[in-house]
Amino acid sequence: MDAEPTATNTTPPMMALRAHERGGPERLVYEDAPRPIAGPDEICVAVRAAAITFAELTWPETWEVNGIDRTPIIPSHEFAGVVSEVGPGVIDLAVGDSVFGIAPFNRDGAAAEFVVVPAAYVARKGTRVSDVVAAAAALPALTAWEALGGQAHLAAGQRILIRGGTGAVGAFLTQFAHGMGAEVTVTVTSALAGARARNLGADHVVVTGPDSEARDLQAFDVAIDAVGGNVPEWLYASVRPGGELVVLQEPPSQELADKYGVNAVFFVVRPRRERLEELAGLIAAGQVEVAIAQTFPLSAGRAAYESGSLPKPGPGKTVILVS
Ligand SMILES: NC(=O)c1ccc[n+]([C@@H]2O[C@H](COP(=O)([O-])OP(=O)(O)OC[C@H]3O[C@@H](n4cnc5c(N)ncnc54)[C@H](OP(=O)(O)O)[C@@H]3O)[C@@H](O)[C@H]2O)c1
Repeated sequence: MDAEPTATNTTPPMMALRAHERGGPERLVYEDAPRPIAGPDEICVAVRAAAITFAELTWPETWEVNGIDRTPIIPSHEFAGVVSEVGPGVIDLAVGDSVFGIAPFNRDGAAAEFVVVPAAYVARKGTRVSDVVAAAAALPALTAWEALGGQAHLAAGQRILIRGGTGAVGAFLTQFAHGMGAEVTVTVTSALAGARARNLGADHVVVTGPDSEARDLQAFDVAIDAVGGNVPEWLYASVRPGGELVVLQEPPSQELADKYGVNAVFFVVRPRRERLEELAGLIAAGQVEVAIAQTFPLSAGRAAYESGSLPKPGPGKTVILVS
């Protein structure tokens, strides 16, 4: 992965949300930080909106690069904003372009006034897509596309089971799998989420308690765990022998994969500009739903992360408004 961008002594500082020690939201402080400078093939973006994946504070990449502690860190790796600087070698973007995209997970993120990212990690957003929606959609949509197409190789007519079909990634999985012509079954934790799942394109909805097993779910061609944490054994058992299980939080159990004869894979999403461009087009055309649960100003960034353990006011992403 690329080296962390640097700042010079003459660069004015910026405001950022940072953690100086590994931990949860309680570590986050709103403070001055060095403003990053774009290196070769990189751009600096004046951030307007930065979205949160609550699990990111548990990802090793958030805290270390090549096994070495990299605190202080800036979280949030999904953003929209305006290009404020282009580094040497960048010819396809210009200062003033409205862009959205993803920051490398093992570098400083976008919960800050400025973020530096490889130019290839963003796409132009267009004027018909808001900063908040673009920031909210970038990571979950790319993750869902990669899970369905690049990992599970889902085909029309196949049966897919999505555990957590209305989360940020889950909602895109449900919509894209439906659009690909699959028969979509999702698990959710409430009747309200079940109704939303049907609106997103689910053919079958199973409401489970947070810790209860989903029974009688069998012989799926593909299953995807969009909840995170420990993947339950019943999800392995739900896939037909030779079928595909895709997990998103950590590598799967090879023992359980062997026990049920399934191909179980984990992957980390890669930013792809052409996919981001496609996504912007779908959002602008109203062909995909992007839900926003709540927004917080950057100065209340810690509260934004703390809200991950509280009931949300509605479905969708939590987004930090930077400017
Ligand atoms: N590998 C990658 O590249 C990558 C990229 C992005 C995200 N991820 C991972 O993907 C996972 C999901 O991320 P996200 O941003 O989509 O999270 P999220 O928005 O919080 O969604 C999680 C969903 O799971 C639901 N849920 C919780 N427990 C459940 C259960 N027992 N049964 C069914 N549904 C349950 C939640 O519903 P309620 O709110 O009703 O509880 C929520 O809708 C995380 O582990 C994250 O780390 C991986």
